[in-house]
Amino acid sequence: MFTGLELSPRSPEANRPGRSVSVIGVRSSYRDRSGASLQALTGVSLHANHGELLAVVGPSGCGKTTLLELICGLQSPDAGTIECAPAALMPQRDLLLPWLSALDNAALALRIAHRPRAEARARAAGLFAELGLEGFEQAHPHELSGGMRQRVAFLRTLLSGKPVLCLDEPFGALDAITRTEMQGWLGRALEREPRTVVLVTHDVEEAVVLADRVAVLSARPGRVRADLEVDLPRPRSRTDPELIALREQALIALGLGAPCSA
Ligand SMILES: Nc1ncnc2c1ncn2[C@@H]1O[C@H](COP(=O)(O)OP(=O)(O)O)[C@@H](O)[C@H]1O
Ligand SMILES: [Mg+2]
Repeated sequence: MFTGLELSPRSPEANRPGRSVSVIGVRSSYRDRSGASLQALTGVSLHANHGELLAVVGPSGCGKTTLLELICGLQSPDAGTIECAPAALMPQRDLLLPWLSALDNAALALRIAHRPRAEARARAAGLFAELGLEGFEQAHPHELSGGMRQRVAFLRTLLSGKPVLCLDEPFGALDAITRTEMQGWLGRALEREPRTVVLVTHDVEEAVVLADRVAVLSARPGRVRADLEVDLPRPRSRTDPELIALREQALIALGLGAPCSA
């Protein structure tokens, strides 16, 4: 779950200053049950600089999870190259272990890295208050709300200490109000603990509110339809006309231009 692909010291892209994630001309496929090849991604190129948040949006089944698994080194591409600083993946389902407390779930990445239990717990506990989880250290996952479970899973990913965080639809299963709260919270958490983030989402507004750059993928096989820069100050307002214009551009790239908007 916590894995990474070390930068190759000979790679020209990896040596490029400021770049944490480079995906160049990547093609990826699966075999379906009959053994036929199912193309998931084709000709995908994108990158994220150090400390940037790259959002990847696209319709269901277009290859977003595949792309994150490629970036984290869990899969190899059929063609193209991927270069990434060591990365931690927050998978689409929170995968908290039901028999462990919230604190021990959060500390799991440190335990996997062979840190002593007391140290791992102390480091996780130190961030519980900041994440609004204080008092829930000993609660088990079934006693937590969806938003809290996602924060514990995010904390576990953060505590892996990897410079790149790959977040797979972290707020996808939450109701709209909780999702909006969590987006604000993620923005603040990254201000305190800056990392390079690849955030997969199917929510265009989430992408433009949070990201420095938004890559829009087509339906399967996923290709980059648009690569939009979001050069707006934070915290951002959802009613900022520039933000609304970018959202519109992303929706048009998705083939979902809103006919009722001005
Ligand atoms: N292990 C697998 N075996 C066969 N097909 C797969 C596998 N994983 C994903 N796929 C297929 O690849 C395509 C892309 O999947 P995925 O990357 O999960 O898309 P997304 O995350 O955008 O919904 C889908 O058509 C999916 O059914
Ligand atoms: Mg997915």
